[in-house]
Amino acid sequence: MNLKDLYIDYFKKLDHKQIPSSPVVPENDPSVLFNTAGMQPLIPYLMGEAHPYGKRLVDYQKCIRTNDLDSVGDSTHHTFFEMLGNWSLGDYFKEESITYSFNFLTKVLNIPVDKLAVTVFKGNDLIDFDSVSYNKWVSLGIKPSRIAKTTLDNFWIAGETGPCGPDTEIFYFRGENVPEEFDLNDSRWVEIWNNVFMQYNKDASGNITELPKKNVDTGMGVERVTAILEGVDDNYLSSIFKDVISLISSISNLDYKGNEKSMRIIADHLRTAVFIAADPASIKPSNTDQGYILRRLIRRAIRHAKILNIDIQSNWEVLIATLILDKYKTYYKELEDNYQVVLDVITNEKIKFNRTLEKGLKEFNKVSDKDIDKTTAFHLYDTYGFPIELTIELANEKNLNVDVEGFNEMFKAHQELSRTASAGKFKGGLAGDSEVETKYHTATHLLNAALKKIVSDTVHQKGSNITTERMRFDFSCDHKLSDEEKLEVEKLVNKWIEDALEVEKLEMKKEDAIKSGAECMFIEKYPDIVSVYKIGDVSSELCGGPHVKNTSELGHFKIVKEEASSSGVRRIKAILE
Ligand code: SER
Repeated sequence: MNLKDLYIDYFKKLDHKQIPSSPVVPENDPSVLFNTAGMQPLIPYLMGEAHPYGKRLVDYQKCIRTNDLDSVGDSTHHTFFEMLGNWSLGDYFKEESITYSFNFLTKVLNIPVDKLAVTVFKGNDLIDFDSVSYNKWVSLGIKPSRIAKTTLDNFWIAGETGPCGPDTEIFYFRGENVPEEFDLNDSRWVEIWNNVFMQYNKDASGNITELPKKNVDTGMGVERVTAILEGVDDNYLSSIFKDVISLISSISNLDYKGNEKSMRIIADHLRTAVFIAADPASIKPSNTDQGYILRRLIRRAIRHAKILNIDIQSNWEVLIATLILDKYKTYYKELEDNYQVVLDVITNEKIKFNRTLEKGLKEFNKVSDKDIDKTTAFHLYDTYGFPIELTIELANEKNLNVDVEGFNEMFKAHQELSRTASAGKFKGGLAGDSEVETKYHTATHLLNAALKKIVSDTVHQKGSNITTERMRFDFSCDHKLSDEEKLEVEKLVNKWIEDALEVEKLEMKKEDAIKSGAECMFIEKYPDIVSVYKIGDVSSELCGGPHVKNTSELGHFKIVKEEASSSGVRRIKAILE
């Protein structure tokens, strides 16, 4: 069994329920582009909401982090990774959690106790030293010399606000002759697991208050721990990537040794692209938000394939993506369901970029006898499709600077939604659902219902995205809406708002929800017990919320744009005034 299976199996035996991985594009949080940690989809439950699966949960979660995308190419960085996690929502706490982790590592993975070390929270003005965790580790056989007490690294929070608490991190010694003292500065000690004891909430003004329940949130990175267990220093040589690397090596006819950087970038970026393209959010390469990241990843992979002299026009990308799809499809059904979509997205983007890549590189070589000014950077973007990050990467290789700020100004002037704004989202951390977003969320359900009534009962939601400024709704439909249809849809939504319909949340079994005719976009994504939001008798949808209590809170609904999104899918942008 591999690490993922062993982990799930172990915690299931300890009465944990396995929950499905959430999509990589968060469904109700427009402030972040991707899920960056296993706990992210669980925030409402850590804050106190009851989880339909109970108090003990376990999962493997798809995560994407793009903040250090440029570090990919070394032996440990990835843009996509899987995180194993187990949670106690007001059930067990520190001692049991530490015992579970210790037993998994030493009895299931058979790691010698002598190779382990831990950190515990030292205490500060607000929160005491975590003596419970310290004593538990000692009682399990971890020597005091292998326990570091620290403050800064041992308080975990995702972003600036939200559920948080002291944590205890577990480290593994990579190498022989384990030193007696655990030294955090010795890079041979690698962190493998983090157990967070989430009992606080931090609000925007920095106040720390107790959560209704004491929770445990643990996280373990699959890529890193797999490499450790297999005794390799390079994550790309573990069973997770080894076959992908060999394939790239055989396609390019080159050895991995000496070509590590480009091969790792291709393997990592195509794996992430596969998961983004397969996500239920139906992301396509574009110039904003998740679509831009997808574009950047594919284009960067192509540039590195070129460095390896791979014939870009051959089907190299299909071979690699197919291998990745096949490796993961038993764990993630969306890969099976969207198999062809994923291959098409990657190939189409390749074809698009390949048309201008060669000329763009020639142009770059022509102008790169000096630093790259804003006009040149913008020209490379606009005419040759070079994401600014590609220009920066090429410039770095020649020790040149790029006027990024100037580029951003020009870019802003040319785009409705600037890239800078979307880059800002990575830093955003976890935002609470603001009032406005909650209203848009409810308006989305009304729009969905109105489209079914006015346009066709075959209309189905294909995606949705909410910001504080507007809502965007993608739906299946074979034609451009006529002005009359748009007007009628608008009228109906506004009528429902005026009718002051009550919004009710019901909990029911998934089958019952489906039987009752509740609208549902991705059935396999939902647990067995689901929440259904019912709006008067006009709409009933499976949904995690949140929603307003009454439609009268919404104001006036207005469609500002209706356009094609992709083949057979239309997109409406609308606002509440
Ligand atoms: N939230 C913690 C982490 O991401 C443990 O899951 O490390």
